[in-house]
Amino acid sequence: MTILGIETSCDETAAAIIRINKDNKVELLSNTIATSLALHAKTGGIIPEVAAREQVKFIIPVIEEAMKVVKNPREEIDVIAVTVGPGLIGSLLVGVETARTFAYVWDKPLIPVNHLFGHIYANFIGENNIQFPAIALIVSGGHTDLVLMKNHKDINWLGGTRDDAAGEAFDKTGRLLNLTYPAGPLIEVLAAKVKKDVYHFPRPLINSYDYDFSFSGLKTAVLREIQKDEKMNDERIANICYSLQEAVFDLLLKKTFRAASEFRVKSILLGGGVTANQTLRKRFEEEIENRKSDIKLFIPDKKLCTDNAAMIAAASFFINEKVGWQKVSADPELYFD
Ligand code: KG4
Ligand code: ZN
Repeated sequence: MTILGIETSCDETAAAIIRINKDNKVELLSNTIATSLALHAKTGGIIPEVAAREQVKFIIPVIEEAMKVVKNPREEIDVIAVTVGPGLIGSLLVGVETARTFAYVWDKPLIPVNHLFGHIYANFIGENNIQFPAIALIVSGGHTDLVLMKNHKDINWLGGTRDDAAGEAFDKTGRLLNLTYPAGPLIEVLAAKVKKDVYHFPRPLINSYDYDFSFSGLKTAVLREIQKDEKMNDERIANICYSLQEAVFDLLLKKTFRAASEFRVKSILLGGGVTANQTLRKRFEEEIENRKSDIKLFIPDKKLCTDNAAMIAAASFFINEKVGWQKVSADPELYFD
């Protein structure tokens, strides 16, 4: 089976082709992404109208590029998968309406996909040995969620952020420190030079008996630190980046491993833009080693952690709920249920 995936929930315009092999392994044939990040860097964040206008320009060239790997797309593509939410309404509509048009003209089934499931299923690209039950941690610019997966049809949300997402904490701190948007990647680079948690920012809810997170206080703690009557220099910025990362990562590790123990899982799956962070990836690996745990850790390739359409195509294969083009619409508020 060959699937065309389309993803336009935030500022990326993405299309991908995957093929499902005989042993149900997802093979990635193409993964095309156009982004308007350079425009958003100028404004320090995403302006939804600007993102959607760019996506209208990009969507057909991006799909054409992704389809170059198949000789006769109309015949070879069996299903079209598209992100229907959550996300920005204008952006989602670009992908959804394009997918509906292809499905109508080519007379193909569509599979509507929840973007958050996409981040989980990025782990299944090229990997068909993931054992259940599994805990999935999704950490992106818009979401921080812990999810229990008993199988592909039994997926339950355990908890998530009560305020900002983890990536949002990086991006908002970045704005305070005058770092380019999105700040996560640069914070990682600056933090890598530091060895000591100088500021030890608060870790809200770290001992709470739920699976919730809270990151908005971190931005305030950073702001207070910046406002102190101390000269801001490269060393101080790097120390703030390091201390911020440590606070965020301590919270993510603590809650994920508590859920892993409570539900006696066999696998931990990470996903979302923040999991591209090398320090976070290493901390999860080390924690499993230190615990001498049998739990297997899965983390997508870096390019599959941030938004892409391959993960949407992969999720559609496991969800496998095909519908006609008339039944698909964008839902910006879509969540786990
Ligand atoms: O998953 P994603 O591409 O888009 C959303 O669905 O939100 O995630 C984007 C987020 C941004 O907040 C960005 O700062 C963060 O992921 N991010 C990182 C890194 N790369 C991207 N955060 C920390 N370290 C990174 N290397
Ligand atoms: Zn995302």
